[in-house]
Amino acid sequence: MEPILEKFGMSEEMSGAGCGSWMDCSGEIMPSTSPIDGKLLGKVRCAAENEYETIVERATEAFKTWRKIPAPQRGDVVRQIGNALRDHKKDLGELITLEMGKLRVEGEGEVQEMVDMADYAVGQSRMLYGLTMPSERGGHRMYEQWHPLGPVGVITSFNFPVAPWAWNAMLALVAGDTVIWKPSSKVPMTAIATMKIVWEVFNKNLLPEGVCNLMIGSRNTIGDPLIRDRRVALISATGSVAMGLHVGQVVASRLGKSILELGGNNAVIVTPRADLKMAVKAILFGAVGTAGQRCTTTRRVIVHEDIYDLMVESLINAYRQIPIGNPLADGILMGPLVDSEAVDSMQTALSQLKEQGGQILYGGDILSGGIYDAGTYVVPAIGEAAANLPIVRQETFAPILYLIKYRQLEEAIGNNNLVSQGLSSSIFTNDLIEAETFLSLKGSDCGIANVNVGTSGAEIGGAFGGEKDTGGGREAGSDVWKSYMRRQTCTINWSGKLPLAQGIEFEINSGLRRPEVGNRNSACDELSRVEGGKGKQG
Ligand code: UN1
Repeated sequence: MEPILEKFGMSEEMSGAGCGSWMDCSGEIMPSTSPIDGKLLGKVRCAAENEYETIVERATEAFKTWRKIPAPQRGDVVRQIGNALRDHKKDLGELITLEMGKLRVEGEGEVQEMVDMADYAVGQSRMLYGLTMPSERGGHRMYEQWHPLGPVGVITSFNFPVAPWAWNAMLALVAGDTVIWKPSSKVPMTAIATMKIVWEVFNKNLLPEGVCNLMIGSRNTIGDPLIRDRRVALISATGSVAMGLHVGQVVASRLGKSILELGGNNAVIVTPRADLKMAVKAILFGAVGTAGQRCTTTRRVIVHEDIYDLMVESLINAYRQIPIGNPLADGILMGPLVDSEAVDSMQTALSQLKEQGGQILYGGDILSGGIYDAGTYVVPAIGEAAANLPIVRQETFAPILYLIKYRQLEEAIGNNNLVSQGLSSSIFTNDLIEAETFLSLKGSDCGIANVNVGTSGAEIGGAFGGEKDTGGGREAGSDVWKSYMRRQTCTINWSGKLPLAQGIEFEINSGLRRPEVGNRNSACDELSRVEGGKGKQG
């Protein structure tokens, strides 16, 4: 057995469901293999209908307790979760690498993202602010308050096995919601290890089971029931556009709330006024980092024609130097793709590029020999293409970078916006007008727009997500916490009269006399004479 599993107290066959302790699952056995060498990492007994029902019931029950705990105290539990994750950063990072194949630093970086998110949410737990608005009626107070929403379903994808859970869960927890997590079936062991860390905190605090829940299983037995379930107030899903279309429609059909974080097809524009060295570095990290398997991966580079040849040369030169191999080893900059299907889809995309009139300028081969015999290692590819080729407009979850030439900035921005996805975008320039044009209303149409910063590696403090086919959802920072709460607008009448809004008169003689209220003070009397409503003042 992998020593790392022992560190988490995991056995080779784990239960795939629980609410604070593990359940006896009745679903099928799901193997988890490492893309690094194709070896079996462990097995998971999936959740089936019974476990599903128990978990949703517990999450619904636990909500009644959890929501009553004052938000700053919920924040304190999240603080402890953050600290526990801090303590396990190295081990959990390594497990992410083993199961998903990203570099060790990237695995640890992902755990860091969870820790950052916990810290952020702790602060937020004391800032679940509602506004107070001036009422148009005298002696009235109008304000809004935020209440917990209910159980929240979080569906995550393989490429970031844990961070998106944290973006959602940390906020949902301080908001007073309970969380039901359905991780990708490609990375079950990482999810199990994470829950073990989190549940320990809940148990130590003598909190009821059901606040943080895990269900591993297929779309049919777990995913679909979850998105259809009216008890689950919000579904936050990360994954493909096809998945998001399905989730969005099903959740909308029951008028539930959803947050969708779907595909990206992110471009970097490089203008003649750019610091080219910096641009090449950012593109390299954006395109090759995580072996091209981030939603924010740089997939297109739109380069001014005057610097195009220089850019091609610099990028190929940089690509040649990328050490590809075991992502646990020092010095490696690119590990394997997640599985052989990902390798196949990369190969298909490259042949389509050629069929559609583009060409491969570098890489694209499948590697073999030694560790490469796992069949998951490829040479990252650089292609040259027209901006409107169908293959360029599609998201292939692999390290393929398309280079596109432009003349005028408007044309470059048009090409940036030409694709159906709208997640991340970036421009490299030291020219203020170019930068501001890109950021203006006629500039990038993406949820993320950067200047002299690549497309990937977003910080948690900002709202993360994108427009168009990316789904429109936002996760993590800024005011995203509001998505996990329900807003209530409250108007309190202390005037002793009943003026209506908009100055409406609606009088009847009820025959009832208003009782004298003995203890009203004179200031209140004064205000109550102001009847409020348009045309009634004074
Ligand atoms: C994703 O690829 O799904 O900006 C998320 C980044 C990371 C998150 C990526 N912070 O690359």
